Amino acid sequence: MKWYPIPGIELTGKPFIRKVKVSGKGIIVIGYEDKLYALGSTCPHAGAELSGGWCKEGKIICPFHRYSYDLQTGKGSPGQNDYVDSYPVEIREGEVYVGIETFWDRVLSR
Ligand code: FES
Repeated sequence: MKWYPIPGIELTGKPFIRKVKVSGKGIIVIGYEDKLYALGSTCPHAGAELSGGWCKEGKIICPFHRYSYDLQTGKGSPGQNDYVDSYPVEIREGEVYVGIETFWDRVLSR
């Protein structure tokens, strides 16, 4: 796992959705109910940008057709049979970091 700093996120307790590019991936970092989450930024249903969505009851809601995805796991709601990638998030010395699995992480976990 390689950890990438995400500059410019102020942890004020206010909810936010911020799109960032990390290691070539589009990711949304989400602050919701005093917790941080990181998910892939593209909706798997029809490719909408999830950064334009909103959070409700522990899920992000896609702005296009209202599909919803669990903030923690990325799993789609029942009946959707889809998911968005989810990434670990940590705060280190006040700065937000997102963890991305490397090629070798994947090879060694087999
Ligand atoms: S594109 Fe996201 S729900 Fe359809």
